[in-house]
Amino acid sequence: MPTSTVATGAKPLENMTYWQRTFGCQMNENDAERVAGMLEEAGALPVLTIEEADIAVFLTCCVREKADIRLMGQLASIKNIPPAHEEKRIIAVGGCIGQRDGELLHEQLEHVDVVFGTHNLASLVRLIKARIDTGLPAIETAEENEGFASSLPVRRDKPWHAWVPIMTGCDNFCTYCIVPYVRGRESSRTLEDIQRELSGLAEQGIKELTLLGQNVNSYGRDLYGKPRFAEVLAMAADCGVERVRFVTSHPKDLLTETIEAMAAHPTIMPQLHLPLQSGSDRILDAMIRKYEIAHYLELVQQLRDNIEGISLSTDIIIGFPGETEADFQQTLDVCEQVGYGQMFRFIYSKRSGTPAATMQQNATREELQNRFERLEAVAQASSLAENKREIGRTLDVLVESASKRDARVLAGKSPKNQTVHAPMPEGQDIDAFEGRIVKVRIEDATTNYLQGSLEQ
Ligand code: SAH
Ligand code: SF4
Ligand code: F3S
Repeated sequence: MPTSTVATGAKPLENMTYWQRTFGCQMNENDAERVAGMLEEAGALPVLTIEEADIAVFLTCCVREKADIRLMGQLASIKNIPPAHEEKRIIAVGGCIGQRDGELLHEQLEHVDVVFGTHNLASLVRLIKARIDTGLPAIETAEENEGFASSLPVRRDKPWHAWVPIMTGCDNFCTYCIVPYVRGRESSRTLEDIQRELSGLAEQGIKELTLLGQNVNSYGRDLYGKPRFAEVLAMAADCGVERVRFVTSHPKDLLTETIEAMAAHPTIMPQLHLPLQSGSDRILDAMIRKYEIAHYLELVQQLRDNIEGISLSTDIIIGFPGETEADFQQTLDVCEQVGYGQMFRFIYSKRSGTPAATMQQNATREELQNRFERLEAVAQASSLAENKREIGRTLDVLVESASKRDARVLAGKSPKNQTVHAPMPEGQDIDAFEGRIVKVRIEDATTNYLQGSLEQ
């Protein structure tokens, strides 16, 4: 790392290289695009391996213990990789573990130079520069310094896809969840600010946008005294971008007006992630989810009645403290009844500081494994059933890349977010297709993807 060049260069990180690794949810994926944007604006160049990098940035997740352990292992193991150029590689850790652990991270792992919290993304370049100039660790996790990440420069991972954060934080405090402690209270952007960002996207070549928040359905409550998510959806639907998606929807706050907005706008994709967590009212109550299964099933019915062919996905926690075999059986029953296109399944992980951490866990390891496998069987059967229904249809597919298994096959996403594969015409290259919406006639389906042929 040539310090002298940094000092005389026009940009603070001129002539430096960076590499980053991102864990966790879409919030971090969005933040990673801003990190790349800021570092590149400051003069740094991206490289493909940590070995070549002067700066390594980790955006971390602590929602479950496994993610936590993995990061600590990775951070420890990079200590001995020789620096790319001169002096020392700068290791910067942000995201939810950065927020939670702050100074402790540097105390535990001395080679971590910079720690930035979930509210301090905008300070990253300044913190790196301070570390270079002073040789001292630079740590910032205060909440006051927040600015919406969308006002920061961005380098999009996929040039045709934009994340549009509409709010940060979470006020729900589900008893198992660490997110409200590391992402802070709900804070919504104004409708005008969101509109400003939306209005430029189509001209930038964006084909798909995803509105982001831990609970988008409560968007605006902090600003306007009542949720106004349906208005954001309508704005996004009319902004000229062909596909609109959003995550995540808490069932307790999903309003009829939101379902109506989805039904009224063909640009809003017929797909909804609606985390169930458990099929047992007793467990939902202990989780403080604030809805009952009867209400959840009414929502599902309303969605199916209003949005033709809508695909639903969900999150399920297995083995929340106190979950009995009977509770779990109810989860299986609800999942079978709903027929999800995709189910994300997690074994409960104790997060210290959350209310559930002090509750008694009673299921054995074998029981948890057995429940996991039974849920997996239901998940696979319902994904396969949903995918098979597409056979014979022609779908609009947003092409993302060549298939990992075969470079002559293109891979993309259907409106319902299913992965679709189709062979490329002879002699054509993936570059001609990436980021385009093409028509694919579906001929076959497996649990994980649809297979078809391009219709010209
Ligand atoms: N805001 C989103 C969820 C964010 S966390 C929502 O409410 O839908 C993503 C998922 O991780 C959650 O839906 C939950 O299923 C899972 N999760 C959160 N905390 C967990 C824990 N302690 N153990 C296991 N899974 C957990
Ligand atoms: Fe966690 Fe619940 Fe907030 Fe989702 S709604 S982030 S599960 S506390
Ligand atoms: Fe993980 Fe933080 Fe997202 S804990 S799930 S990266 S909000």
